[in-house]
Amino acid sequence: MLIHKYVLEIIQEAASRIRQSFSQTMEIETKSGANDLVTNIDKEIEQFIVEKIRAFDATHRILGEEGMSHEGFTELSGIVWIVDPIDGTMNFIRQQRNFTISIGIYEDGIGKFGYIYDVVREELYYAIAGKGAFLNDKPLAKLQPIPLNEAIVGVNASWIAKNKRVNSEKIGELVRTVRGTRSYGCATIEMMFVVTGRMEAYVSMRLSPWDIAAGAVIAKEVGAEFSTLRGQPINLLKQDTFIIANPSVHKEILEDYIEIL
Ligand code: IPD
Ligand code: CA
Ligand code: CA
Repeated sequence: MLIHKYVLEIIQEAASRIRQSFSQTMEIETKSGANDLVTNIDKEIEQFIVEKIRAFDATHRILGEEGMSHEGFTELSGIVWIVDPIDGTMNFIRQQRNFTISIGIYEDGIGKFGYIYDVVREELYYAIAGKGAFLNDKPLAKLQPIPLNEAIVGVNASWIAKNKRVNSEKIGELVRTVRGTRSYGCATIEMMFVVTGRMEAYVSMRLSPWDIAAGAVIAKEVGAEFSTLRGQPINLLKQDTFIIANPSVHKEILEDYIEIL
């Protein structure tokens, strides 16, 4: 498939540019707050991806985190590429690992292709809607049921400390119920760990369309369930809460352990 091969080429070239940047000095800026970082590399990689998409088909629309395509979005009609050039920028800056390139391709709001590339591990997760999900071309299995007390759950420690968004005591109960918790600081890696059965759930209080667009296409193919923390379908036009989970624990986590404030 032409578009599939083209995306693989874009991702490999973008990854090689990111690897080269490890030896350069980065320019780091803050965005919405002190912990919301962006570098010149995030912007340059998005600019590179935007140029490649435009060269492929100038009618395709591009929703990218760093706004390099300068398009406003109030609806998702047509072919829309949803791009996070580096997901996990803080990890990229401080640790040079646990970050990805994420590209989802939607047609009239429906996910068609999803690609998440873990640059340092050289792990490419991808899916073509209806044709299955793959990790480095190896098919990913459908998720098998697992009880909550055997589950590993991805949750950031901020939500177990008292906060304004969610009842931290209930999240604390979840932490005590499950077998273990993890936090990788990269939403796409955490989603892919659920998709591959390495964890059973990942919850977040605030994700953006580019954090979840590619992962949602891949998740569907293995039967992982995803929604907002109120149990509603995801909306790729706004920031919202998010959960992805093995279907055997999705409802139980939402009903028994999540109370949005
Ligand atoms: C962030 C990461 C992080 C998540 C944040 C995202 P960025 O993306 O995925 O794990 O907790 O909500 O914004 O800014 O590094 O692309
Ligand atoms: Ca992101
Ligand atoms: Ca990003």
